[in-house]
Amino acid sequence: MTSAASFPDVELALIGGQQPFVLEELQSRFKIHSVYAEANPFAALERIGGSIRGAVGHGMAGLTRRHIELMPKLEICALNGVGLETSDLPAIRERGIKLTTTPVLFDDVADLAVSLALSCCRQIPLADRFVRSQQWENERLPLGRKLTGTRVGILGLGRIGIEVARRLEAFKTQIFYADPIKREDVPYTHVTDAGTLASTVDIFFLCAAGNPKGAPPMIGRTIFDALGPRGIFINIARGWLVDEPELIKALQEKRLGAAGLDVFYDEPMVPPALRALDNVVLTPHIASSTEETMRAMGACVIDNLVSWFSGRGALTSVT
Ligand code: DGY
Repeated sequence: MTSAASFPDVELALIGGQQPFVLEELQSRFKIHSVYAEANPFAALERIGGSIRGAVGHGMAGLTRRHIELMPKLEICALNGVGLETSDLPAIRERGIKLTTTPVLFDDVADLAVSLALSCCRQIPLADRFVRSQQWENERLPLGRKLTGTRVGILGLGRIGIEVARRLEAFKTQIFYADPIKREDVPYTHVTDAGTLASTVDIFFLCAAGNPKGAPPMIGRTIFDALGPRGIFINIARGWLVDEPELIKALQEKRLGAAGLDVFYDEPMVPPALRALDNVVLTPHIASSTEETMRAMGACVIDNLVSWFSGRGALTSVT
């Protein structure tokens, strides 16, 4: 962190939960109101919103128009994450509020995406259960699949997608991507749309930036059928970008080979039908959850707030 400056008179509203060490650091520098933890956060903001100058949220708990209306003196909102789809960007821009993110998590997210793909190919969770349950003493685990040398597709070649691609180069894969922007600076093959991508590759990585929840899902039955019974679908973006009931059906009927999922439609609730499947690897939205990255993200939140309230401007703002 850049400085030890503290601002005991500056009141901040937490609109999303933070790691304990981030909370501690915030509390040592600012006056903190944990409104997200109240039974009715908006009622809490109706009481105290008038004196709030800063807010702190995260990728899944952004700054909405309602928050903004209840905090007339709000100057800055620091998100501990990079997801913007839960924040109302037009409302934020209208009021001239600074919104900052923590662009320090791309390596971890890409690491997890590749881990999920390897886990699906080599059936690592299944193999682990096989050893623990002593099934190994009586039978052999069905054969896994090779990741090296496969054709892989990345939907969304942004800062996460590019890191996934770089890692997959080491696995001697052929790399395809679909993105509105065709990049001239990468050696990967551009295709025009998600459907073409799915019918071209063995493993499909969803790395696109999220639409807000409630928008029509961008990935549904046609994509799963194009990937086919040997296809593998990986999602480290957002659960609501995917038609989850169709994904479950495709996996149950083996029209889709396997899926590695870190995100779900209604986290932390994961449908029992999905949890019951053997051809899925499931993780609880942990793509950036390493000690190192969580500390770096927390430092980024604090540094932005300290810099802003010291009059030096925000450091990693998106508005
Ligand atoms: C993000 O930063 O958006 C992560 O998904 C955590 O919410």
